[in-house]
Amino acid sequence: MYKVALNFSDGRTHFIGVNAGETVLNAALRQGMTLPVDCREGVCATCKGTCQSGSYELDYVDEDALSEAELEKGAVLTCQMRVSSDSALQFDFDSTLCTSAGPEQIDATVKAVEIVSESTAVVHIDASVRAGQLDFLPGQYAHVQVPGTDEWRSYSFACAPNDRNQLKFLIRLLPQGVMSDYLRDRVKPGDTLRLKAPLGAFYLHQITRPLILVAGGTGLAAFLGMLDEMSAHPARYTQPVTLFYGVTQAADLCEIERIQGYAEKLPNFSYHNIVMQENGGWQGPVGVVTDLFEEHHFNGGEIDAYLCGPPPMVDAVKNWLDQREMSNSHVHYEKFSAS
Ligand SMILES: Cc1cc2nc3c(=O)[nH]c(=O)nc-3n(C[C@H](O)[C@H](O)[C@H](O)COP(=O)(O)OP(=O)(O)OC[C@H]3O[C@@H](n4cnc5c(N)ncnc54)[C@H](O)[C@@H]3O)c2cc1C
Ligand code: FES
Repeated sequence: MYKVALNFSDGRTHFIGVNAGETVLNAALRQGMTLPVDCREGVCATCKGTCQSGSYELDYVDEDALSEAELEKGAVLTCQMRVSSDSALQFDFDSTLCTSAGPEQIDATVKAVEIVSESTAVVHIDASVRAGQLDFLPGQYAHVQVPGTDEWRSYSFACAPNDRNQLKFLIRLLPQGVMSDYLRDRVKPGDTLRLKAPLGAFYLHQITRPLILVAGGTGLAAFLGMLDEMSAHPARYTQPVTLFYGVTQAADLCEIERIQGYAEKLPNFSYHNIVMQENGGWQGPVGVVTDLFEEHHFNGGEIDAYLCGPPPMVDAVKNWLDQREMSNSHVHYEKFSAS
């Protein structure tokens, strides 16, 4: 049996015993530590941490979950990690996330599906069947069962928690996809939508310095949740917040009025949009999100950055930040890997 220290961002450390051949995740769950978990297959990176000491092997790591550079720096997936010595792991989230009861299942109802761009729908959900507020941290996500199938997909809450449990998801409609096809062809108000939530370790931490939020496509969802929360309590959020939002083409941009609304409520909030392909009379910048970055956005490296969206976008932004050696910056990210 190996002794493994789990260090959390709130400064707490929990020790677990891990049997030879057992994954760190299974050992933690066995001992009552509900580490964040989703796919259990090395694909989603929900269970990621960093190994600070000790020797280990990882069974399978999808290239979208962790990059080579992250692996070299000791990034690990606890669902795939088998230790061969006493070890210490660092996690980017508070220990309180691991001592709650874990996700719960709710049979919510589809209220409406609003098409907000050529490729995006906002799905409005009524989860008031649950007595009491469904608590989640802005940025976290739910597992959603595609009605009429056994398939589950992950979606970030595109809203803050509220006592009426009226929830929203911002969902990209792929040309073909199990959830995309349901939302395009079969959905109707009143459908039951089974959710498991809350999930994930990507959430808004305490803000003590300027925030950089970088969204690729529907990665915007997580930031809508965070910005809903901030704009409901503007006096608590006085640090500069800059949102960079990149999409493939102008027709994919969505929720711009909502973003503009945050700018009216939060005095230190600004946003910049960019599209990759120029067409349809778009007058703004063309390129990838990192093309929008300027020195002054980064406060000499004293920033907290949150990145959310397709894995290539998240990796590109992380590389951009790494190359500038912003060693004091703190980067949190969520990759929208395919199921
Ligand atoms: C933690 C997490 C949070 C997520 N949050 C959101 C969210 O808030 N909004 C959102 O729109 N999506 C989100 N996703 C992605 C989402 O879970 C699904 O993967 C996506 O909606 C596709 O589902 P589908 O059933 O329509 O397509 P599928 O049936 O899963 O896929 C159909 C085909 O499309 C490919 N594909 C799947 N996803 C993508 C993609 N993103 N880009 C290109 N090709 C793809 C698949 O490989 C497959 O070939 C999240 C993913 C994760 C892991
Ligand atoms: S739970 Fe470990 S990679 Fe998904």
